[in-house]
Amino acid sequence: MSIVRTLQHVDADRDGIDTAFRDDVLAGLAQRHKAIPARWFYDTRGSGLFEDITRQPEYYPTRVETGLLEQVGKDIAALVGPGRCVVEFGSGSSVKTPHLLAAIDPGSYVPIDISGDFLRDSSRSLAERFPDLPVIPVEANFMNPVALPHEVDGQARLGFFPGSTIGNMVARTAVDLLRSMRDTLGGPDSGAMLLIGIDRIKDVAVLEAAYDDAAGVTAAFNRNLLTRINRELAGTVPEDAFVHLARWNDRFARIEMHLEAQRDVAFQVAGQPFAMAKGETIHTENSHKYGPRDANLLLRTGEWTPVETWTDADDRFALILAKATEYRTAP
Ligand code: TRP
Repeated sequence: MSIVRTLQHVDADRDGIDTAFRDDVLAGLAQRHKAIPARWFYDTRGSGLFEDITRQPEYYPTRVETGLLEQVGKDIAALVGPGRCVVEFGSGSSVKTPHLLAAIDPGSYVPIDISGDFLRDSSRSLAERFPDLPVIPVEANFMNPVALPHEVDGQARLGFFPGSTIGNMVARTAVDLLRSMRDTLGGPDSGAMLLIGIDRIKDVAVLEAAYDDAAGVTAAFNRNLLTRINRELAGTVPEDAFVHLARWNDRFARIEMHLEAQRDVAFQVAGQPFAMAKGETIHTENSHKYGPRDANLLLRTGEWTPVETWTDADDRFALILAKATEYRTAP
């Protein structure tokens, strides 16, 4: 069974421009260190390119995390029990989800994604694969608490947040999200749990290659943001002047992605003029990496108590099951 609901989420002005996208891009380009929020990568082409990234040989996280899910599905099932509403944050067309759903005997599946078209496609194929499972997609920005459909009332929730997407946020935003997930999923009385994938700190060459694959897919994904700006915001950004950069920033324990101007450029976006000097960048993404203690501290700060951690033999990637923390007065 599949129930598809459409939520109106895009505010468009009279020219059909997505005003949230425009406001983010204009504010981001007006800063001294230019930066654009990474969620705007994921238009239809961006979402497709991202799926390609996950199939690149250098991009180990997807393979390792999927392997982990296959291996430890039984352990997860034993800890979470049957009949749960699985709420996936940023569903994409995840290859991981079927492994989880097959392992745990869930009561329903609610994928939340900001890209409506992509969400509907991936929901349809999942609903086909699990014909007895209610699949109820919700088109929303999962950074805010999300009202779950009433069809899942009474089912204990298991949040699923794979792909180390938590690493794409700075720590305070990650903590805000973890707390907001607790609002969405419920507190300890409802038995709410969260299964989250978090990438580990490791060899810099391995990390940088994962974000700068030889086939150039990550580069195309990064540069697609400029294509989207030009198309949707009447932009005149000279796309050929920008190259993809992926660098490890050790102070922040993160991979940074930038679009670097190869020459001085001037352009317009939504009627506003901008100029960049050769070598100046637009910061487009962070991917923070976490050691074991870092990951536990992050989860605890977000009011989730780690229950179990699974990693591969090389400790490249961690899958962590946590339960909603009970609020209590403590020293
Ligand atoms: N969560 C993924 C990660 O940080 C997302 C990601 C992988 C990504 N490659 C990317 C985001 C390239 C933007 C650009 O590994």
